[in-house]
Amino acid sequence: MPTSTDLHIMADTRPIGVFDSGIGGLTVASAIMKRLPGEHLLYFGDTAHLPYGDKSPELITRYSLGITRFLMSHHVKAIVIACNTASSLGGKAVEAFVGNEIPVINVIDPTVRYVNKHYTVGKVGLIATKATVKSGIYSRKLHELNPAMPVEEVATPLLAPMIEEGFFDNNISKTIINSYLSNRRLKPVKKLILGCTHYPLILPEIERFYQGKVEIVDSAFQVAEALAAALEERNWLNTEQTKGRRTFYVSDFTESFQKSARLFFGNKLQLQQIDLWKDL
Ligand code: DGL
Repeated sequence: MPTSTDLHIMADTRPIGVFDSGIGGLTVASAIMKRLPGEHLLYFGDTAHLPYGDKSPELITRYSLGITRFLMSHHVKAIVIACNTASSLGGKAVEAFVGNEIPVINVIDPTVRYVNKHYTVGKVGLIATKATVKSGIYSRKLHELNPAMPVEEVATPLLAPMIEEGFFDNNISKTIINSYLSNRRLKPVKKLILGCTHYPLILPEIERFYQGKVEIVDSAFQVAEALAAALEERNWLNTEQTKGRRTFYVSDFTESFQKSARLFFGNKLQLQQIDLWKDL
């Protein structure tokens, strides 16, 4: 049985690196903070380049690798790609770059495993950015586990920029959300996967549309679980009994990012702006 001194020596205090194009990944970071409150987090929001959802696979890969290099230069012990678009298009390149050194957790695999485990009957719907839907990654991965599962993917490109601008819970967001969800292809859907990490911020509006008749899958919690398991397996958890430090970087300062980040992480939060691409 290790003593408290041993535990202190064993504590792995390296931060966890988390990134997204903007505020969406904060929904994942917040789930990580709840699941692993003692871990230090280093968050990067690529606000200068959002939305990722209408960019080419090459550009998304380039941005994802640039951020990965930055996070690794801060000696992170894991990378969480808290963005479905970056996970779909840049995930493989990030994994190849990182190698076996540290775990890379994307947001798609834990979601797909969760949906498959809880699937019974009916159509599974997915809403996501254009780039994620075009990649077809969700259908492909779900069908690898269950070829008979009916899956319908619908691109909802206005949602992430709308949310990033802090534009939700009003008449305009209601009209846009209702118009997307009324898409014939999403009828009748039994489960709806939120295939973009920005969308949990409009969860109440989506729930209002479906009035409890559809299960909405927000995978932030599953992602946090997958991260905890990967760290536990390596014995890399921070066993210090203190509250983790949270550091936030953005590639371009925006009021809306600061406002949303403070909603999740408190008013003391300070954003640091850094241009990772100035020398490229
Ligand atoms: N939050 C991101 C995702 O999960 C992308 C939003 C965007 O930048 O288009 O796909």
